[in-house]
Amino acid sequence: MIIAIDGPAASGKGTLAKRVAEHFGFHVLDTGLLYRAVARDVAKAGQRLEDPAAAAGAARQLDPATFDDPGLRGAEAGDAASIVAKIPQVRAVLLDYQRAFARREPGAVLDGRDIGTVVCPDADVKIYVTASPEVRAKRRFLELQTRWMEGAPAAPAFEDVLADIVARDDRDAGRASAPMKMAADADLLDTSDLDIETAFDAAVGLIKRKIGQ
Ligand code: DC
Repeated sequence: MIIAIDGPAASGKGTLAKRVAEHFGFHVLDTGLLYRAVARDVAKAGQRLEDPAAAAGAARQLDPATFDDPGLRGAEAGDAASIVAKIPQVRAVLLDYQRAFARREPGAVLDGRDIGTVVCPDADVKIYVTASPEVRAKRRFLELQTRWMEGAPAAPAFEDVLADIVARDDRDAGRASAPMKMAADADLLDTSDLDIETAFDAAVGLIKRKIGQ
């Protein structure tokens, strides 16, 4: 059983994927982490993020044990990931890992940008989670403010958060190799007006309908 959850940055797809996996007792893979980790390793080696050979090399050497690195969270790591994600060789290297993960029993939930279109075109369920750029920016802004109050460096202005989200959408949707796109047979889940509980209930309802439970 494969559940593909795609969508843009800060759409809430990661939280949904985790909750859905927990609910059904499935494995979960946040595929954005793979690209984030590749970008981190390229930068650590002092190479340019745009360098295809360096980035593909980092992808081949990727160590899944490092995916829980807190440095991989945050908008900066996401932006860097979005740059290496444009490189076809990087995507090709990461494909096998993602497909092997998807075959895990009793089921797997993968979230990303191209799961329903490229990584698992035969997924049993495909959900495309989205929300307006303003709503996504607001969620991220509030999250950054909370972290700031907990001692993190000062949060950027709302306009900067919004500009960052729009720029990342453009890069992810505009690239030639496996662009962010809703699969033709995916169900759209717009969370602009939904809180996480309502979005979760909607996703579970949709999955149960698809798999005939
Ligand atoms: O989901 P995320 O914000 O952690 O992803 C970070 C970047 O990685 C995203 O901007 C584009 C890239 N990515 C991708 O190209 N394909 C995926 N399946 C997942 C992420």
